[in-house]
Amino acid sequence: MRSPVIAAVVLLLGSFLLHGADAGHRPKPSFTAIFSFGNSYADTGNFVRFAAPFIPVIPFNNLPYGETFFHKPTGRASNGRIILDFIAEAYGLPLVPPSLDTTQSFSKGANFAVVGATALDLSYFMERNITSVPPFNSSFSVQIGWFEQLLKTSLCNNTAKGKCDDYLKKSLFVMGEFGGNDYVFLLAANKTVEQTKTYVPAVVKAIAGGVELIKHGARRIVVPGNLPTGCIPIMLTLYASPNKADYDRYGCLDKLNGLARYHNAFLRREVMALRIKYPGTKIAYADYFWPVVGFLQNPANSGFDGSTALVACCGAGGRYNYNVTAACGFPGATACADPSRAVNWDGIHLTEAAYRDIAGGWLRGPFAQPPILSLAR
Ligand SMILES: *[C@@H]1O[C@H](CO)[C@@H](O)[C@H](O)[C@H]1NC(C)=O
Ligand SMILES: *[C@@H]1O[C@H](CO)[C@@H](O)[C@H](O)[C@H]1NC(C)=O
Ligand SMILES: *[C@@H]1O[C@H](CO)[C@@H](O)[C@H](O)[C@H]1NC(C)=O
Ligand SMILES: *[C@@H]1O[C@H](CO)[C@@H](O)[C@H](O)[C@H]1NC(C)=O
Repeated sequence: MRSPVIAAVVLLLGSFLLHGADAGHRPKPSFTAIFSFGNSYADTGNFVRFAAPFIPVIPFNNLPYGETFFHKPTGRASNGRIILDFIAEAYGLPLVPPSLDTTQSFSKGANFAVVGATALDLSYFMERNITSVPPFNSSFSVQIGWFEQLLKTSLCNNTAKGKCDDYLKKSLFVMGEFGGNDYVFLLAANKTVEQTKTYVPAVVKAIAGGVELIKHGARRIVVPGNLPTGCIPIMLTLYASPNKADYDRYGCLDKLNGLARYHNAFLRREVMALRIKYPGTKIAYADYFWPVVGFLQNPANSGFDGSTALVACCGAGGRYNYNVTAACGFPGATACADPSRAVNWDGIHLTEAAYRDIAGGWLRGPFAQPPILSLAR
C-alpha cells in the first residue's frame, strides 16, 4: 500500500540530490561585466547628470520617479527598476552604473544610455533641417565614443591586449532600444507616418553601425527592437484621431504600430546579416513589441488592471492621464495607488512591473532569440 508513496518520495529525493550535484559541477553561466547603450528605456542616471547644466528642473529627479524599490529618484524614467536592472540581477552583477557617475567603478560594467538619445547622429537631423530634435549630442555613435574612451583611459588601460580581449569576450552588450526617438522627432517635425517610414533603413543602418562594436571585441550582444508606439499614452494623446478606424481592437493607433513593426522587421533582418558576418558572436534580437501588446491582450496574466492598460499611472488627468504641461515629476501630477497593476508609468515609459515581465521573456524566452540567459554559455 505504502510503496508507491515511498517510491515517489525516493524519486523526488533522488532528483533533488541529482540536481544539487549537477549544480555543483556546472557553475552558473556568467558574465564579467554588462555594457549598455540606449535611450530613456535604458538610462540609469546619465541624463540627469548630462542635462543638469541646461535644464533647471528635470522631472526624473523628482518623486514619484523611483518610489518603488529605490524609494528615491535615481534618474531612471520609471517608478523602479528597468529591464537592464533585471538582466544584471539575473547574472548576479551590480545594477549597471551610469557612465557619467564618476564616483562609480566600471569594472563590472557601465551604462551609456541617455534619455532622448537617437540612433541617427544630431548632424543627420540638422543637415535636413529637422529642428524638433533636442540639441543634446548623445546618439548611439557618440555613446560608442564614450565607451571607447572608457576602455582607453580605465578599463583596458595598462592591460595586455589579450587580457582586454578576454574581458570584452566575457561581457554582455545590450544595445538599445534605439530608433523610437528618431521616429518621434521626425513625426514632431510634421512628417507623416509614411514619410517617417522612409527613414527606417537609415535608422537601422545606424543601429547596425553601433552593433559593429564587435570589431572591438564584443562577442555577446542583445539588440532590442521598438515598442508598439501606437499604444503609448503620449502618442495616443498627441495623435488622437476622431476616426475610430485609426485604432486597432486594443485601442492603439494602427499606423504608429505599423511603423514600429516595419522597423522591427528591418532590424531583425539586419541582425541576421550581422550573425552571418560575425560567426564567432551571439547576437540576440529582443522583442519589445509583442510583450507590450500581450499586456493589452491578457492584462490579468501579468497582474495588470486591463481597464487602465493604456493609461499612465503617473500624470495629471486626461483620457490617457498624460498632459505635456503637467507630466509626471512636475507639480500637479500624482502616481496611481498601485503601480504594480499598471503597464505604463509616466505616459512614455513602463512601470517596474512591466519591465520585470518583459525582462523575464528576454532572459528565458520567448521574447528574445536566443534567450539572453543562453548567451553566457
Ligand atoms: C557630437 O559629438 C561628437 C563626438 O564627441 C562630435 O564628433 C560631433 O561633432 C558632435 N556633433 C555635434 C552636432 O555637435
Ligand atoms: C535648410 O534651411 C535652410 C535655411 O532655411 C535652407 O537654406 C536649406 O536649403 C535647407 N536645407 C534643406 C536640406 O532643406
Ligand atoms: C507642425 O504643424 C503645426 C500645426 O500646423 C505647427 O504649429 C508647427 O509649427 C509645425 N512644426 C514644425 C516643426 O514644422
Ligand atoms: C494640462 O495641465 C495644465 C496645467 O496644469 C492644465 O491647465 C490643462 O487644463 C491640462 N490639460 C488637460 C487636457 O487636462
